[in-house]
Amino acid sequence: MGNKTFAMIKPDAVASGKLGKVIDATLAAGFNIKAGRLTLITKAQAQEFYAVHRERPFYNELVDFMSSGPTFVMALEQENAVQAWRDTIGATDPTEAAAGTIRQLYAENKGRNAVHGSDSDENAEKEIAFFFSEAEIIASNL
Ligand code: CMP
Repeated sequence: MGNKTFAMIKPDAVASGKLGKVIDATLAAGFNIKAGRLTLITKAQAQEFYAVHRERPFYNELVDFMSSGPTFVMALEQENAVQAWRDTIGATDPTEAAAGTIRQLYAENKGRNAVHGSDSDENAEKEIAFFFSEAEIIASNL
């Protein structure tokens, strides 16, 4: 199992003032933040990042939403990080997310669902590299 995952605090959560609360929950869940940046994802970046979903009916809505405002992107570290972060954020649909998870607490709906997490070690590596250079993954922890 890998020890890193990629996470995003999405435009809905940033715009509604949840950035600090989600970072608190991330640290409380035992993650080390190895890299983090507030960024405005372009439409082209969102299309490329979510290319695997391009045939899905919600793809255009997803791309528009992810480029609609600032997103906080992070590289997180913990043992078995991919599964640990998925457990911390809960199910994609907040109505199905377990009590106390970030999506149950802060997400609006399946599309505006507050946070993203990688679904595999392979994708975690790709997604971290999509937003961060090697030099930005720092040795110390926040
Ligand atoms: P995320 O973990 O970022 O990965 C893919 C995203 O697609 C997912 O979170 C949701 O935000 C979005 N998504 C999945 N299903 C739907 C849906 N039915 N309607 C709108 N967005 C969706």
